[in-house]
Amino acid sequence: MNLKDVIYCGDCIQIMKQIPDETIAGCITDPPYNYEFIGRNWDNSEIERRTQRVKNSSTLVKNIPYGSGLAGGVRNAAWYKKNRKNTVDYQKWCEEWGKELFRITKSGALVLIFNSTRTVAQVQVAMENVGFYARDMIVWRRQSGIPKGLNVAKKLEKMGYDNADKWNGWHSCLRNEWEAICVVQKPLINNYITTLQESGVGLFNTMCENGFQSNIIEGIKRDNLESYNIHCTVKPLDLIEKLIHMTIPVSDDNILIDPFIGSGTTAVACKKLGIHYLGIDISDEYIDIAHKRLADLNKDSI
Ligand SMILES: C[S@@+](CC[C@H](N)C(=O)[O-])C[C@H]1O[C@@H](n2cnc3c(N)ncnc32)[C@H](O)[C@@H]1O
Repeated sequence: MNLKDVIYCGDCIQIMKQIPDETIAGCITDPPYNYEFIGRNWDNSEIERRTQRVKNSSTLVKNIPYGSGLAGGVRNAAWYKKNRKNTVDYQKWCEEWGKELFRITKSGALVLIFNSTRTVAQVQVAMENVGFYARDMIVWRRQSGIPKGLNVAKKLEKMGYDNADKWNGWHSCLRNEWEAICVVQKPLINNYITTLQESGVGLFNTMCENGFQSNIIEGIKRDNLESYNIHCTVKPLDLIEKLIHMTIPVSDDNILIDPFIGSGTTAVACKKLGIHYLGIDISDEYIDIAHKRLADLNKDSI
């Protein structure tokens, strides 16, 4: 199996099962968050539905969170029960792919996983349950955060209440301005030095423009996407480049895996930085976008 500079199509658990033990130097990944999680796998018809929905849309919020629980609606015992089951299933699923990820990574490998502020705890616990050690929680402070919850004053006004304006400013949730990046590590071989000598990884590159790299990253704007990139959750290229730079030394031995690569941002960033990548996505449509982006990068560098 070729491990360097490839993107495989399929369920990441099945693809990772084919990867030999301890061959991967690190992981940066952005799995579907819990509210995008439908059943045990991201199903193709749902991908198709979303893809079609955003294709010609000019609305700002293209990806309305599925079951995110941010808006109004009925909150009865059945709703909470279903929500809880969904969260527990999500954690179990993270453990399933986390188990393979643990097996294929080298000792000391750093694994960075994007997630929502609401479910990152489950991701961290899932990773700890499969053997990783929790290291940090990076805050990616986005430039924006559109209020999505229920505006109670407006709702009451619509319902005909006279004193609705008494509730001006009261919402069902806060403006969501940051995303979490859970940082876990495969246990070291005794200490950092031995691990570095044997695995070539395990440390953070803390050099950055502002001095010593902190665990809050801000000031990175969203990219203007290529017209063909219709993926609804593309991460900024500069952000991914920064995370790679922080966690993987440039070396021909080092391969970074992204088991949920989507439109290929990690692959493009790796290619720019001279790091080998191994991407996986369940949707061939998204992989086509990733290949186009990689090809465009080649054009740009000619
Ligand atoms: C949040 S998106 C990643 C977006 C990516 N960061 C980018 O910048 O384009 C998550 C991706 O995981 C993929 N996915 C979902 N379930 C999967 C599975 N079981 N195996 C592999 N990929 C999966 C989806 O198709 C989706 O593209």
